[in-house]
Amino acid sequence: MGFLSLVCVLFFLFGVKVYCQYETYQWDEDYDQESDDDYQPEFQFRQNAEYGVPFHQYTLGCASECFCPTNFPSSMYCDNRKLKIIPNIPMHIQQLYLQFNEIEAVTANSFINATHLKEINLSHNKIRSQKIDYGVFAKFSNLLQLHLEHNNLEEFPFPLPKSLERLLLGYNEISRLQTNAMDGLVNLTMLDLCCNQLHDSMLTEKILAKMEKLMQLNLCNNRLESMPPGLPSSLMYLSLENNSISSIPENYFDKLPKLHALRMSHNNLQDIPYNIFNLSNLIELNIGHNKLKQAFYIPRSLEHLYLENNEIEKINVTAMCPSIDPLHHHHLTYLRVDQNKLKEPISSYIFFCFPHIHSIYYGEQRSSNGQTIQLKTQVFRFQDEDDSDEHDDPDRAHEDQEQEGPEEHFDPHFN
Ligand SMILES: *[C@@H]1O[C@H](CO)[C@@H](O)[C@H](O)[C@H]1NC(C)=O
Ligand SMILES: *[C@@H]1O[C@H](CO)[C@@H](O)[C@H](O)[C@H]1NC(C)=O
Ligand SMILES: *[C@@H]1O[C@H](CO)[C@@H](O)[C@H](O)[C@H]1NC(C)=O
Ligand SMILES: *[C@@H]1O[C@H](CO)[C@@H](O)[C@H](O)[C@H]1NC(C)=O
Ligand SMILES: *[C@@H]1O[C@H](CO)[C@@H](O)[C@H](O)[C@H]1NC(C)=O
Ligand SMILES: *[C@@H]1O[C@H](CO)[C@@H](O)[C@H](O)[C@H]1NC(C)=O
Repeated sequence: MGFLSLVCVLFFLFGVKVYCQYETYQWDEDYDQESDDDYQPEFQFRQNAEYGVPFHQYTLGCASECFCPTNFPSSMYCDNRKLKIIPNIPMHIQQLYLQFNEIEAVTANSFINATHLKEINLSHNKIRSQKIDYGVFAKFSNLLQLHLEHNNLEEFPFPLPKSLERLLLGYNEISRLQTNAMDGLVNLTMLDLCCNQLHDSMLTEKILAKMEKLMQLNLCNNRLESMPPGLPSSLMYLSLENNSISSIPENYFDKLPKLHALRMSHNNLQDIPYNIFNLSNLIELNIGHNKLKQAFYIPRSLEHLYLENNEIEKINVTAMCPSIDPLHHHHLTYLRVDQNKLKEPISSYIFFCFPHIHSIYYGEQRSSNGQTIQLKTQVFRFQDEDDSDEHDDPDRAHEDQEQEGPEEHFDPHFN
């Protein structure tokens, strides 16, 4: 154990908690502009906590191009400096910020002394896969976070250190992935591969299964045509938005019992198995912008359901909710069904089955000849004394103009 680690441990023991940051990561804020107004749960991921930074470290230097704040001496800020090459990284640096530069290459030389890195942010640069020195990342045996989003990578970076917990690779051109690319990434909890050029053939059964702690996987805006096989059973958040997936195999989710949120909007789903979403932990389900014709079984845990822009003509509430258990209510609070082919509001039976429903957004519907029509009801909302949930509603302003009377209630429009 080196001197620095020893000092770190000592500070830890004395409880000097210098720096402990929680990052709020909205897992798709960049990818889903359309639903800006929707309810967007915030998933919190704990970042590496830093305990104790030796006080004399300011003497250890800082690259002349960069800034090392005295109160966080293990961090080096080199972002937004038009840098073309990575400066030499001093040994004591743990957090390295190089985002928003013009860096094309990741050379081992710059990192020759940097063995304590825990976090590297190289997002928004011009890095190409061939210009990454082989193994340069793998030798950072303490690395927890690696940001490489918004670069020009054509390949999944390989090899990577086994310590890695968060890997961000969104907005590249990745179309190649070695079959052993993810071997050993046993601690990875978050993998973002949105906005790349991944095809089904690259995500074979064995590739993803190795990441036994993976909680969040973003594969939105790729070229997938089928559900990725072999996802690890630890998964809680899965985004497959904006691919070309047309079906979900029966029992596909049996191996993903922990799934909390599933986003599959902007795909080609037409027929899906009736009880495919029978998942006891599912809270959010977004399958808007597909070609669904029918409702399906709604699990008790589900709170937010997005079905907009499908081909649904009638929502069969009995199918969504085949039985009512007065002791274990369904949790659904928000339902979005605009841009379907509904001719009338959903049967009021829905309020018996889903007693927590707070609002249903009908918006505009499409008629069979392609015209848009408006139901008598555009938004159904229960009035709460503390109705602070206005952001639930994608079209609040519109509705305020359109609606003449007071908020609608149960009886008049539902039969
Ligand atoms: C690495 O550290 C050695 C000894 O401290 C120093 O002489 C050398 O310049 C450093 N190299 C880089 C690339 O920072
Ligand atoms: C890394 O850079 C991105 C910009 O691409 C920024 O959003 C993010 O907050 C940075 N991460 C950290 C931990 O500073
Ligand atoms: C994975 O995380 C655990 C717990 O944080 C840690 O003890 C272990 O050393 C890590 N594994 C690797 C390969 O870094
Ligand atoms: C879907 O992805 C394509 C590129 O793959 C992009 O051009 C398009 O804007 C995306 N659409 C949405 C709704 O995100
Ligand atoms: C949902 O799954 C449970 C077991 O997890 C099962 O008992 C129940 O019958 C299923 N419901 C439907 C509608 O498939
Ligand atoms: C609604 O679904 C239930 C159960 O799946 C079925 O028995 C019934 O025939 C359906 N009703 C209509 C009008 O489709």
